[in-house]
Amino acid sequence: MIKHLKSLAMAVAIAGTFAGPLAGLAAAKPLNYELPEETAVFKPGPGIESAQNNCAACHSADYVTTQPPHMGRPFWEAEVHKMISAYHAPIDDTDAKAIIDYLAATY
Ligand code: HEC
Repeated sequence: MIKHLKSLAMAVAIAGTFAGPLAGLAAAKPLNYELPEETAVFKPGPGIESAQNNCAACHSADYVTTQPPHMGRPFWEAEVHKMISAYHAPIDDTDAKAIIDYLAATY
């Protein structure tokens, strides 16, 4: 009988231990947060369609718009070719050239 009481006490103690944090969880309000809106878009310019069609498949335009300005054509040429060779972007030569022209002239 004493043994039985002891285990009952244990059970109550354990239940208390778990009920505490659980009660806290139930009372907690749902956490609401909003992600910032996706605002990065390609700047208007000749050839923008090629960039929109080919450069937004894997990541947003952020990757382009957050590069330092006026990097010049060799930089963009290297970027576009890196996307194709390193990341396997399926972009044909004609589009690649149009995109490089667009990026070099616009950014
Ligand atoms: C096949 C998927 C894919 C496509 C399509 C793609 N990219 Fe990327 N791009 C990536 C990956 C992967 C990274 C690296 C992401 C990272 O490091 O977090 C990246 C990173 C970048 C960066 C950041 C600098 C760097 O070199 O890591 C720039 C700028 C960029 N891409 C431009 C472009 C442009 C311009 C195009 C269109 C010609 C393009 N991307 C198309 C996959 C792609």
